[in-house]
Amino acid sequence: MPNERCRQMEQLSREHDEGMAFADRISELASDGGEDSLAEGVRLVREYYQEELEQHLQHEEQTIFAPIVQFHREHFSLCVRLGTEHGLLRTMATSMRIETAQRDLPAFADILRKHTEAEEEELLPLVESLFTPEQLDAVMHFTPLPGTPPGRGPGS
Ligand SMILES: [Fe+2]
Ligand SMILES: [Fe+2]
Repeated sequence: MPNERCRQMEQLSREHDEGMAFADRISELASDGGEDSLAEGVRLVREYYQEELEQHLQHEEQTIFAPIVQFHREHFSLCVRLGTEHGLLRTMATSMRIETAQRDLPAFADILRKHTEAEEEELLPLVESLFTPEQLDAVMHFTPLPGTPPGRGPGS
């Protein structure tokens, strides 16, 4: 994965690396297939979503997708595609359960990998070439609200 990002994009890119490593870990637990491994996979996905992923998705939506939709309509369809995948990742992470984990853990890992690759290969290079210095600084200075939004978290 290309990873020589401008400094404003470093946090997102580092989280992408972590997401790829997380996808590998989840795939391994799913291939192991034992009940303990599947339960651990479900627990890890929920934890990853609450601690990392939801904030990462909001970071991209608020500081990248929103300015592209507002100022660079020619790239609207890319944002729609990636935004739809954000919705899918949220739904899968919050509905993950042990009964269907054998099937859903690898599916989640696969979508997370493909989505992350598309952002590294298509979205971030585009942002680096399109965004003004002020818009890039807004990406770097994003501050997430604590916790996940109401109705998003598991068990809610
Ligand atoms: Fe994303
Ligand atoms: Fe991302």
